[in-house]
Amino acid sequence: MTAPNVFQPPTHEGHTTHIGSLDEYRRMHRESIDNPEQFFGKLGRELLSWSKPSTTVKSGGFHDGDIAWFLGGELNVSYNCVDRHAAENPDRVAIIWEADEPGHDERWTYRKLQQEVCRFANVLLKFGVRKGDTVAIYLPMVPEAAVAMLACTRIGAIHSTVFAGFSAEALRDRILDADCRILITADQGKRGGKTVHLKQIADEALAGCPHVRNVIVFQRTGDMAVPFSAPRDVWWHEEVADQRPYCPPVPMNSEDPLFMLYTSGSTGKPKGVLHTQAGYLLGAAATCKYVFDIHPGDVFGCMADVGWITGHSYIVYGPLALGVTTVMFESVPTYPNASRYWVMVDKHRITQFYTAPTAIRALRRLGDEPVAPYKLDSLRVLGSVGEPINPEAWLWYHDVVGRKRCMIVDTYWQTETGSHIITPLPGVTPTKPGSATLPFFGIDVAILDPETGRELEGNDVTGVLAVRQPFPSLTRTVYNNHRRYLDTYMRPYNGYYFTGDGATRDSDGYIWINGRLDDVINVAGHRISTAEVEAALILHPACAEAAVVGVAHDVTGQAIVCFCTLKSHGAGDSLEKALIGQVRTHIGPFATPQRVVIVHDLPKTRSGKIMRRILRKIAGKEVTIKDYDEPESIAAKLGDLSTLAEPGVVKHLLERFA
Ligand code: WTA
Repeated sequence: MTAPNVFQPPTHEGHTTHIGSLDEYRRMHRESIDNPEQFFGKLGRELLSWSKPSTTVKSGGFHDGDIAWFLGGELNVSYNCVDRHAAENPDRVAIIWEADEPGHDERWTYRKLQQEVCRFANVLLKFGVRKGDTVAIYLPMVPEAAVAMLACTRIGAIHSTVFAGFSAEALRDRILDADCRILITADQGKRGGKTVHLKQIADEALAGCPHVRNVIVFQRTGDMAVPFSAPRDVWWHEEVADQRPYCPPVPMNSEDPLFMLYTSGSTGKPKGVLHTQAGYLLGAAATCKYVFDIHPGDVFGCMADVGWITGHSYIVYGPLALGVTTVMFESVPTYPNASRYWVMVDKHRITQFYTAPTAIRALRRLGDEPVAPYKLDSLRVLGSVGEPINPEAWLWYHDVVGRKRCMIVDTYWQTETGSHIITPLPGVTPTKPGSATLPFFGIDVAILDPETGRELEGNDVTGVLAVRQPFPSLTRTVYNNHRRYLDTYMRPYNGYYFTGDGATRDSDGYIWINGRLDDVINVAGHRISTAEVEAALILHPACAEAAVVGVAHDVTGQAIVCFCTLKSHGAGDSLEKALIGQVRTHIGPFATPQRVVIVHDLPKTRSGKIMRRILRKIAGKEVTIKDYDEPESIAAKLGDLSTLAEPGVVKHLLERFA
C-alpha cells in the first residue's frame, strides 16, 4: 500500500468535540474492552432513561449465542426517543421532512411526534396488536414511517420494515417468515418525480399471506384509483382521527425483541436479523453521539432509507434518542438536479451529513458546479457508509463538499452489528482516505488467518475481520432460526463473531475493509446475495441454470452479471431482457442485473461445482477473447483450469461475453 495522505481532525471555532484527543480515545477504548461492565454500565445510565435499572451489564457469549446486556433492566424505546425530549422541550423540532417535490418540507416538533406516535400506537392496539407480535412496515420515506416504528416499540410489538423498493414477492416472503398479521403501507410513494405503486404491490404480496388481518394505508398521494378493500384495509388518517393522543409506554425487558430486519447472506433465503431493546438503542445513541459528535441543537441529515439498517439507527433511533433534529429525505440526490443535497443542507442548516459512496461517486461525476454556489458552512461532519469508499471519492467529499474543514467519518458496520464498529471520531482520529481507521468503544477487533482461524498479530496483516467479544448492539439471533445465527456468525471461527468481510491492518494499526468474503454483492450499498439472484432466474420457465457474479462498477461499486443456460436453445435479446425483468420482479428494481448472458454451458468442475472464479474474471473483463490465442496468458489470468470438466467452455464464454 502506498503511503496515503493523512488528514488531521479539523477543529471548529467555538466548538468542543466530545472527545478531545487520540490519547483520550485510546484510554476510553481500553477501558471499554478491559472493563465493559463499568464502561457500558455508565454509558447506559448516561444516555438512556430506565424505568428499572439493570442488575447486570454483560452476560452470555458467542459460543451459545446467549449474549445479553442490561438484564433485569426495563425501559421503553419510544419513551427514550420521544417522551423525555417532549417533556423537556416540546417545541424542539424532532423531524424535518424534505419531500420529493422540491421546496416542500415539513417540521414535526417532539410534541407532535409524541402525539402521533401515541395515536398510532392506539390504532395498533385497536387492531389487536400486542406485546411480542410482529408488524410489517412497507412505507416510503415519510415521517409516518418513523411514527409506525416508534408506535410498535411503544406497545412492545416487533417491527419488520421492508424497504419500499422490494418487489411483491420479496415482501410476501418477509411477511410469511416473520408471521406478521398487520401490514402498514401507503397508497403510493414518490421518488425523483416518479410514482411507486406501493399499495398495488402490497396487494400482490398479500394474495399469498392469508394470515394478514389488516392493512393500514397511509395516504401519501391521495390517488383515488388505488385499490382498497374494506374491511381488511383501513386508512391511516381515518383511524388516527379517532384515537387519543396518549398511550402509556409499555416497560420492556432489556432483552425483549425490538425489531427484525431481513438481510442477504450466502444462501437464497434472507434472514431476519433480530435486535433487542437496550443494547441496540445504546449502540445507536452512543455512536451518534461520538462518531457524529452530536450536540444539542444539531440537525442530523442521514440520506439512507428507513427500510435499511442505516435508516433505523441513524434516521430514527440514534438521533431521536439524543433529542436532536433528524432529516427524512424522500427524494434522490439528482432530482430535480444535482444540487438537491446542497440546497437542503443550506436550507435546514444540517450539521452532520451521512450518505453512501455510490451517491458521492455519482455526484462527483457531475462536477463541482452543482456544489459550488452553496455555503455548506453549517456542516461539521460528513459520513460515508455501506461499502468501501475509494480515495478519489473521499477526497472529493472532503475538498468540494466539506471545503477541507469537515471531518470525514468512513463508518464500517452491518445490519448485524446495529451500529458503527470501525470508524474515525471527530476531534480524535487522523484519517486516511479509504480506511475506516479504528474500532469504536467495546469493539475488540481481530484479523484471522482464513485457513487456520488463528489471529494475525501485529500490523501489516490481511485476513478475515472478526470481533473477539460481544458488544451491546450486536444481533442476538436470526428470527426463528438460532441455529442459522450460530452457523453464520459464531461457528466459522470459534470464539469470534465473523463479519463476512476481509480486512487489512496497516503499519499504523488502521483497518482497511477489503469487501465480502462470501457470495454477497454490494450494489450501491445494497447487499444482494448471488444465490438469491440465481434463485430468481431459474424460476423463469426458459432458464435451466444460472450463475451470478459481481463486477466492479465506477458508480455503484459493484454490478450484477448473470450467466444462464437455457432448457432449449434459441437465445435472443428478448430473453435476456425477460431474465433481467425476472430479477426485478422477484427481488426489486435495485437488484437489476447489468447484464444477462445466455451461454450453452457453465464452467464446472468434474464434481459439478460452478467455478465462479472464472466467471468473475470473464465478467470483469480481466480476460478477453483476444487472450485466447496465447495459452500462457489465459493460464496466467484465469489460474488453474485443470479441474474443468469441459475445457472448451472457456472459449465459448469469452465469445459470448465479447
Ligand atoms: C459493507 C450497512 C467498507 C461490508 C451498514 C458489510 C462497508 C456490509 C462499509 C454490510 C464501509 C458497510 N467500508 N465496507 N464503511 N460499511 N460495508 O448490512 O461489506 O447493509 O459487511 O449494513 O456492507 O451491509 P449492511
